[in-house]
Amino acid sequence: MAQREGFQLVVVANRLPVHLQEPGDQSWLPSPGGLVSALTQVLQAHEGLWIGWPGVTESCQHPADFEGIALEAVQISRDEYEDFYLGFSNATLWPLYHDAIRSPSFQRRWWNAYVAVNERFAEVTSRHAAIGATVWIHDYQLQLVPELLRRLRPDLRIGFFLHIPFPPIELFMQLPWRRRIVEGLLGSDLIGFQEPHAASNFSRIARRLVGVTGTDTRLDRLGRTVRVGAYPISIDIARIARLVESSEVRARAIQIRSELGNPEVVLLGVDRLDYTKGIQHRISAVAELFADGVLEAGRHVMVQVAVPSRESDPHYERERRLLEQAVSEVNGEHGHVGRPAVHYLHQNMPFEELVALYLAADVMLVTPLRDGMNLVAKEYVACRADLTGRLVLSEFAGAATEMRAAYLVNPHDLDELKDTITAAISADPKAARRRMSRLRRQVARRDVYEWADDFLNDLGTTSQQVDELAEGTHDDVRGRHSLAHLLEGGHA
Ligand code: G6P
Repeated sequence: MAQREGFQLVVVANRLPVHLQEPGDQSWLPSPGGLVSALTQVLQAHEGLWIGWPGVTESCQHPADFEGIALEAVQISRDEYEDFYLGFSNATLWPLYHDAIRSPSFQRRWWNAYVAVNERFAEVTSRHAAIGATVWIHDYQLQLVPELLRRLRPDLRIGFFLHIPFPPIELFMQLPWRRRIVEGLLGSDLIGFQEPHAASNFSRIARRLVGVTGTDTRLDRLGRTVRVGAYPISIDIARIARLVESSEVRARAIQIRSELGNPEVVLLGVDRLDYTKGIQHRISAVAELFADGVLEAGRHVMVQVAVPSRESDPHYERERRLLEQAVSEVNGEHGHVGRPAVHYLHQNMPFEELVALYLAADVMLVTPLRDGMNLVAKEYVACRADLTGRLVLSEFAGAATEMRAAYLVNPHDLDELKDTITAAISADPKAARRRMSRLRRQVARRDVYEWADDFLNDLGTTSQQVDELAEGTHDDVRGRHSLAHLLEGGHA
């Protein structure tokens, strides 16, 4: 599709699928992860466009395309980085939507920046989408975009997917701008969540706050149908299977175990360093198991990978300090020379190395206090083709809704966490294999490409009136790319 006519498929996310290797430098790397691969693949099939923030506040020369898809940057100023990104997105919405594990902070200045940046995303999108195009908006940073975009471009088919949990009404009602957020999302034709109960939380809140009518899966908004549903995200299973078969990765897994001193049991945690991930609770449980003599340095070893994240946020800085203190305490008390109890890596890791770690680990510990899905749990299972390996999984990860055969645990309950880790380590190998086999069948049901197809197919069958509008409004939608213009014109 020639850019002059606009793009038929547009993905809108806070981040572009590329990032700068080092701030200040000009070399761009593809961002890791199955989501980027899946969305890139669907955009490639439609010669689509990805709109996002390049990740820096200084002006930069980002690549115009990435693996055959066009990229369009939305700039964010230094103040907006503070107020929109660190503030409203990550210190208001993030903790509120994750069960208020940290107190969300409500600041009017942050809200104003959130509105301004969402307006900018909507305006940029309205300029680049073709008549009747499909636009897929992602995640909590952009919840106002569906409604803002619909005002500018009623001809578009608009989908929204929330990657993180959507909170129950009791928590959501704290938000001073709760109505605006719900109205923002209701601008979509289809709203997707990770889990069915998140979808029903939203529909219930929408009926209560905005007075829409309808069921948990279908709401009537100003004569338009908004569909609501659960689309649990998945992983790139084929890519993982290829890596698992590669002789380099397998050799690396053996080497890792040998570098760890060939212990009897390797326990592994892999997380973004985030207070929602329950890493400290996990380290406390492991520390007590060493203290109780259930684990012994040399025979048992834990590896914790903590990927650096949101480092300019004080909550994250504090989390890192406390975690590093906890690791250093357990090693001080229970390690031996050359044999620490916990190996801690605060670094980004190539995916190949991560897969080698998954292969090297006997027990995977995925114990977030709250998580939208948690793809590490699915990646680990996808790696264990020989049915070895045991997964300890928090009940509060979205993945637990599907992965019932894991060793499920409430990570807030330290005794239960210790007992579940112990049970996973000492389980009868046959019983553990049966669990892994069930988990693998479950994960194999849908990969991330099918997830994207499911969402887009359902979006494609929404709201007939979109097609009618697209027919009748060719001239009308051209030039309606500014919300200020709309507001002045009295359309809003
Ligand atoms: C979570 C969110 C994403 C976010 C990612 C990394 O997975 O759902 O929207 O992009 O964390 O966080 P960051 O703040 O670095 O974009």
